[in-house]
Amino acid sequence: MTKTKIGSIPFGPYITVLAGATVKGKPNYAPIGAYGVVSQKPVLYISLKNSHYTTSGVAEHGFFSVNIPSSELLEKVDFCGRVSGFKTDKATIFDSFYDEAGNAPMITECPVNYLCRVIQTIPIFDFTMFIGEIVSVYANEDCLENGKPNALKVNPIILMDSGYFDLKDRIGSVFKVCSANK
Ligand SMILES: Cc1cc2nc3c(=O)[nH]c(=O)nc-3n(C[C@H](O)[C@H](O)[C@H](O)COP(=O)(O)O)c2cc1C
Repeated sequence: MTKTKIGSIPFGPYITVLAGATVKGKPNYAPIGAYGVVSQKPVLYISLKNSHYTTSGVAEHGFFSVNIPSSELLEKVDFCGRVSGFKTDKATIFDSFYDEAGNAPMITECPVNYLCRVIQTIPIFDFTMFIGEIVSVYANEDCLENGKPNALKVNPIILMDSGYFDLKDRIGSVFKVCSANK
């Protein structure tokens, strides 16, 4: 195996999600790659540029949503990344729904939705990392298998460098791929 040094910036892959917040009383969504888990607790982080419209809504209300779009929603997802809520009203691009537990909109069309309450805010360069406790999770019934979301049915959008990709196959089960006697 020959390795080539290709620089010092991250290329991914990342899952593309839509971060949601209420801004000036309306839903606003921005696609992000900077999201993930931080521990075994039910906690997610999102990292948003300070100048984004969505960022102001998360800071004001203390809630955000993470919506996992399937690849069929790519055109709308990409559009939300091309325009800012400062200039373009993105409230009706998707249908929004709410949970009484917190003021952040979630996207009906996205197969998986997390509503999070901000528990920590970390400034990082010109971004803000919001760490949020998950207060509710929703999923489209047709994406569930044994009560849990199935990755192939969700078909998330994978981002790497400047390309979007989708999932092809399931290649194993956790702890069942390796042999027991190491
Ligand atoms: C695929 C993709 C991934 C992105 N990832 C991030 C990200 O991780 N963090 C971020 O702050 N902006 C990210 N952006 C940029 C914002 O989505 C974009 O600037 C958006 O228009 C901001 O909208 P708003 O001003 O309405 O909040 C990404 C855009 C795209 C298309």
